[in-house]
Amino acid sequence: MTDPLKGCLNIADLHRRARSRLPFPIYQYLERGADDEYSLRNNTSAFEHYQLQPRALADVSQLDTRTRVFGCDIDWPLIMAPTGMTKLFHPDGELAAVRAAARAGTLYCASTFSSVDLESIAAASPAPKMFQVYVVTDQQLNDQLIERARAAGYTAMCLTVDTVVGGNREEVARAGMNIPPKLSPKSALQFAARPRWVWNYLSRPKWDLANLSDRIRPGKDGKRDMASYLGGLLERRLNWAHAERMIRQWGGPFAIKGIMSAADARRAVEMGASALFISNHGGRQLDSTPAPIELVAEIRAAVGPKIDIIVDGGIRRGTHILKALAMGASACSVGRPYLYGLAAGGEDGAVRALQMLRSELERNMILAGCPRLSEIGPDLVRNPAPRWD
Ligand code: FNR
Repeated sequence: MTDPLKGCLNIADLHRRARSRLPFPIYQYLERGADDEYSLRNNTSAFEHYQLQPRALADVSQLDTRTRVFGCDIDWPLIMAPTGMTKLFHPDGELAAVRAAARAGTLYCASTFSSVDLESIAAASPAPKMFQVYVVTDQQLNDQLIERARAAGYTAMCLTVDTVVGGNREEVARAGMNIPPKLSPKSALQFAARPRWVWNYLSRPKWDLANLSDRIRPGKDGKRDMASYLGGLLERRLNWAHAERMIRQWGGPFAIKGIMSAADARRAVEMGASALFISNHGGRQLDSTPAPIELVAEIRAAVGPKIDIIVDGGIRRGTHILKALAMGASACSVGRPYLYGLAAGGEDGAVRALQMLRSELERNMILAGCPRLSEIGPDLVRNPAPRWD
């Protein structure tokens, strides 16, 4: 059998390979952003506004990328962001992803909207694990998810606050993407063009939102109607009191994901959060936001050195991680890059995506004259990159 990852040298290569393997509606769900996709584009292009200024003649013989976030030791400063319904991209779904985390020396964050239940994810791999919650209207369900995550051995909790309603992803709707995918006359040809995906999908047992499956009730036609269930699920009254209650209930490392201002960062820390994800959900929610990388320095200045800050959105290169660390991030996280790898080549593909980013980061640390994370600081970046035209 040919190596599905053959010839892939970087994340852009894995992206192209993933695109060639996924049915168009599924690819659109993976890739696209909200409204005019300004946030989506800006997440990556904003990195170009900063230049790296290397330190010359530094002894770079001893490289050390190990760090600690959310009370977990990891080999290098990048973690796997929560992504729902991962079985859309590969039949092994979250199980492949969490195993990839262990092989790549990093931490996996499981989503509330996983297509594998949180207990099975926890049992599948020795990787350190975090659980991401959405606040739902059913308070009992919120409490149960937190207690199940505790019992299953998750070390840290993450509350996502940027998704009280779904983002307006027009290209996903235009592609006729349904969840779970249903064949319509319109999409049938697109699915038929990816017979391997269809075969995998049909030959595996049916799956859904595994953490919530006992809550999804049969619709009028007798089928379980996930779309309408999801529509009524998220709590629109979500406010700081919900966050504070969860932080107390969990009692351990707790991150708020979706912080996009210094004022909110300060408030989250006052509430007791030990970590923040500066994130616009990969450009999938509110459009026209700043890129997370543009906010790192001011949020670090606002919360001080002790809080874990994760930068999330648009990271596709080792230089992106290096710039984020230089501006004050504790670590970065990626969503699409490991999903590209997963879609292209299953667990091995996800590992490959992470290894690409890691080896790029390591090489860049050496070339920049900063072989240890403690040596990476604001003096490494010029901001903004000066114009000369
Ligand atoms: C996500 N993201 C996400 N976030 C979250 O808190 N809970 C979730 O269930 C999901 N689901 C999800 C599905 C898919 C297909 C994608 C691409 C993203 C957002 C994710 O955690 C992260 O913030 C972004 O993916 C980061 O941007 P990049 O790395 O994809 O550019």
